[in-house]
Amino acid sequence: MKDDKTRIWYGGDYNPDQWPEEVWADDIRLMTRAGVNMVSVGIFSWARIEPSEGVFDFGWLDRVIDMLGSAGIAVDLATATASPPMWLTQAHPEVLWKDYRGDTCWPGARQHWRPTSRVFLRYALDLCRAMAEHYKDNDYIVSWHVNNEYGCHNRFDYSDDAMYAFQRWCERRYSTIGALNDAWGTSFWSQGLNDFSQIIPPRFIGDGNFINPGLLLDFKRFSSDALKEFYKAERDVLAEITPGRPLTTNFMVSASGTGLDYDDWADEVDFVSNDHYFTPGSGHLDELAYSSSLVDGISRKQPWFLMEHSTGAVNWRPINYRKQPGQLVRDSLAHLAMGADAICYFQWRQSRAGAEKFHTSMVPHAGENSQDFRDVCELGADLQRLSDEGLTGTRLVKSRVAVVFDWQSEWASEHTATPTQQVRHWTEPLDWFTALADNGITPDVVPLREHWESYEAVVLPSVYLLSAQDSRRVRDYVSGGGRLFVTYYTGISDENDHVWLGGYPGSISDVVGVRSEEFAPMGSDFDGVMDHLRLTNGTVAHDLADWITSVSETTRILAAYEADPWTGMNGVPAITVNDFGRGRAAYVGCRLGREGLAASLPSMLDAMGLDMSAQGASADVLHVERCDESDQRHFDFYFNRGHGIATVQPLGDVVVASLARMRAPGGPVSIDPNGVVVVKRP
Ligand code: GLA
Ligand code: GLA
Repeated sequence: MKDDKTRIWYGGDYNPDQWPEEVWADDIRLMTRAGVNMVSVGIFSWARIEPSEGVFDFGWLDRVIDMLGSAGIAVDLATATASPPMWLTQAHPEVLWKDYRGDTCWPGARQHWRPTSRVFLRYALDLCRAMAEHYKDNDYIVSWHVNNEYGCHNRFDYSDDAMYAFQRWCERRYSTIGALNDAWGTSFWSQGLNDFSQIIPPRFIGDGNFINPGLLLDFKRFSSDALKEFYKAERDVLAEITPGRPLTTNFMVSASGTGLDYDDWADEVDFVSNDHYFTPGSGHLDELAYSSSLVDGISRKQPWFLMEHSTGAVNWRPINYRKQPGQLVRDSLAHLAMGADAICYFQWRQSRAGAEKFHTSMVPHAGENSQDFRDVCELGADLQRLSDEGLTGTRLVKSRVAVVFDWQSEWASEHTATPTQQVRHWTEPLDWFTALADNGITPDVVPLREHWESYEAVVLPSVYLLSAQDSRRVRDYVSGGGRLFVTYYTGISDENDHVWLGGYPGSISDVVGVRSEEFAPMGSDFDGVMDHLRLTNGTVAHDLADWITSVSETTRILAAYEADPWTGMNGVPAITVNDFGRGRAAYVGCRLGREGLAASLPSMLDAMGLDMSAQGASADVLHVERCDESDQRHFDFYFNRGHGIATVQPLGDVVVASLARMRAPGGPVSIDPNGVVVVKRP
């Protein structure tokens, strides 16, 4: 089972402990029918595996793993440490995490444990050891699923355990209290610290007050690291007992959820896996493709796992919209297009009871006689065909354009006491991804740490923090011939969130050739304030603009604001292009949104000397390619992005078509809304 590298893994979270054993045989029958070949087992099973302290019951788990394995279904086995049992928290309430007001997070849901508790760590590692010893020779198990979605509910713990761990973390980072005082800017408001024991987490400071942003930023860094240390401890116990078995833990990368620094975490897993839940509405496909592209960037283009997504509605939003016809298959194929080699769901069979009973699943409440299960079977057949055609192991083809995402910039820009709460980092990369797609270009989304210098064109979208070193990278990239797009709210501060002086964007103002003296936020919360700005190219800016007061001699102005004189913004440059060294830098000094960016891009690309017409797609189609190193196996994925019928001319054989039709052999293919076509080139 271990050696089959040609198949795309297909399945989901399987929670047999929610069902009587009679149901298991039916599960296996339906899994076989759907083409399921892998399931994740035991994620929340601690209380069943260890019903009381030190007493283990592996019988039921042995039986179900054996049934699965005998049917050819591989197991991704969880450590079961995500949700501690009642006996543990009853005996040790000191493992429960505390919120910023010091209130205890009680059991009743899941992940009610503090990442820095030595007591909890001991219990979790004992369970890991027992699991690894018991299952070390079981060949049906192909990977370890360590814990589950670290930090989903316990990302920030403000307990005393966390406080002491945070103090030690700060000491390792800064060595001296003087260096920490400097980094946090504690001369402000009399916050100077005499030693590390005076550090407290960002606990409740009273409503309407403003906490030290340096403390806050480091607490986010620390919280990501504390969970990572916990993960590494679990991992190391497993790796010692089962050295050859690959390990992963499921990340939560999506456009708006920016919890942990997953680019940093990715160094610690054998393969990257991600959980992604769709954004309802018109951004559905673009947000999915954007998020998956970022996962591919984190994975450095190594194949990765889609560990969870949903067949339809989730149950944790205020309104849980269903998927439209075709989206079940389309979404999975979109993750696959962006580099996934495994397609899994939460969860196999929809629960009858418990907090997630209204969350859709591969086998819905309606049973096997249902559209969802028929779609699950269709998808299984599609994945089998793509495996047979050799998709597994091919990689997402590198784009000519990279859009940079940076966790630390998101963390810093989401703080309060900023020019406007309407602006933070994450929306801008997604707007650029979508606007580029509107122009027929599918960019790669890459972490700031990645070698983005290897791309022909790079976008720095509101990358608020730029260290001296990253500013140097920017300068070297452009002077060496790179084409760089920079937006407002980029390069405002260094890695300690100390503002770069001399005019924004302080550390790269010479590269972009503009100098802004002040932010010009827009809003409608007061009568008579500026709520938008019209540009000379016909687009409209909202939320934030830079008051650019001068440009360099080599800077060309592509668009300026047309505003009433009283605003002080009339004629101020809005979009510029600067020659710098052998390269060029475009600057977009305001928030144009997807629409404004899409409309401004053609003239910007032109001014940058970038001809992207060869990218070949149109606005209504998202085109993605995967191929192997020698280009023997080359696949084109075409997704309909709109609400009309899209047409593409395939460059080879259509191997999968969902909501799509070929009019004549070799001729163009029509793709319905939510449809997709996969083509293999000869
Ligand atoms: C005040 C405080 C100052 C400063 C300003 C900012 O009233 O006394 O310290 O915070 O507000 O507007
Ligand atoms: C997650 C968890 C699952 C389940 C799904 C529901 O990401 O890992 O256990 O709660 O969300 O969407």
